[in-house]
Amino acid sequence: RPHLSLHAMDGLVMEEVPLAHIAREVGTPAWVYSAGALRRRARALKGALSAAGLTATVHFAMKCNDNLSVLKVLAAEGLGADVVSEGELRIARAAGIPASAIVFSGVGKTEDEIRHALAEDIFQINAESAEEIEMISAIAAGMGRTARVALRVNPDVDAKTHAKITTGKSENKFGVAISDAADIYARMASLPGIAPVGVATHIGSQITAGMAAYRAAYARLAELVRDLRVQGLPVERVDCGGGLGIPYRDEPAPTPEALAGAIRATLGDLGLPVMLEPGRWIAGPAGVLLASVVLQKRGAAHRFVVVDAAMNDLLRPAMYEAWHGIVPLSAARAASPLSPAEVVGPICETGDTFARGRLLPELVTGDTVAFLDAGAYGAVMSSTYNARPLAAEVLVDGARFAVVRERQSYEELLHGQRLPEWLTT
Ligand code: LLP
Repeated sequence: RPHLSLHAMDGLVMEEVPLAHIAREVGTPAWVYSAGALRRRARALKGALSAAGLTATVHFAMKCNDNLSVLKVLAAEGLGADVVSEGELRIARAAGIPASAIVFSGVGKTEDEIRHALAEDIFQINAESAEEIEMISAIAAGMGRTARVALRVNPDVDAKTHAKITTGKSENKFGVAISDAADIYARMASLPGIAPVGVATHIGSQITAGMAAYRAAYARLAELVRDLRVQGLPVERVDCGGGLGIPYRDEPAPTPEALAGAIRATLGDLGLPVMLEPGRWIAGPAGVLLASVVLQKRGAAHRFVVVDAAMNDLLRPAMYEAWHGIVPLSAARAASPLSPAEVVGPICETGDTFARGRLLPELVTGDTVAFLDAGAYGAVMSSTYNARPLAAEVLVDGARFAVVRERQSYEELLHGQRLPEWLTT
């Protein structure tokens, strides 16, 4: 994480901005993203793909971070977007990502969403079922449009990641079975309003177990493409999905070079352009969540560090038992003796726990900590549970920083609620 450094005086610094300064100005909890890290990671990924001799486009999986300024930074690096809802499609367009760089994935796109995507004339729709293909055909034909559709295939491989984020096994809801894919693709080619453009897969997220699962999935895809060609069906490109994991805890994680090599080795011979849909690898390490210590409390069995962020902000520990580094912003604190602590939020359930038995210094009210690697699946997964307003988001760029999403106000929290007339008398 070269965008983060610890200084004796300033404490933890992102690029050139002391995070304590942001915490003071903006308050906590607050998400902070490094524009420099986003750029560097986008370039590293694109660089690895071209160094492997691949013609590739990168479509940022904006489900992991849909902040307008983050998207703007990535768009300037030439990244497109992978969207999964009309909301994301609209935000991508608002960030200036051209429709011609947008791919729409998801098992349950509604008719309205498909109509909107066709009206916007996006680059590609990834269809996930035979049923959806009929739906897209009818809508597109009715609009007098042609939908560019790739078929998402479920390759039945085990990506060896958390069960809640595995997507490429046959029992998962995603894609069509590889054994049915050729027939469905042929059907697609025969339907009005559809131009079949290729095949797609995505086997899971936070993949750290090496390239074996990727290779297996892509090899199956390559075989399918050869079959389709034999049948005279047009295949213009292959969408390789996302999923590249990051080291949350200094565990070994695969590199973009390894992924590019796996793509090259399995799909290279087809001579087709490839697409990638990475989210976490680009944005995860680029962001932190700042939280202040409300108090430190001695329980019967544990020392509890109670912070002002909670599971409504950063859900990953509660939802996936995910591990996030926790670093005090003060260098003096960071250098103090460590002992185990439970780091918890104020929400009224035991699951609101960020870390158990974490080695941390003694912390006092008003100290601030950073939760690391919170740039992906952080703010986007937050809610207002316990009527807690959504936290602010901040972008750091060199020596500058700006609030890029205001903290939600209490007025906004009530916004939209209506009392029916019979309750008001
Ligand atoms: N493409 C498709 C079709 C996807 O479903 C996903 C993620 C991606 C790309 C991007 O995957 P990535 O490169 O970010 O791994 N909330 C979970 C992660 C859910 C991932 C869902 N799909 C978490 O916090 O770990």
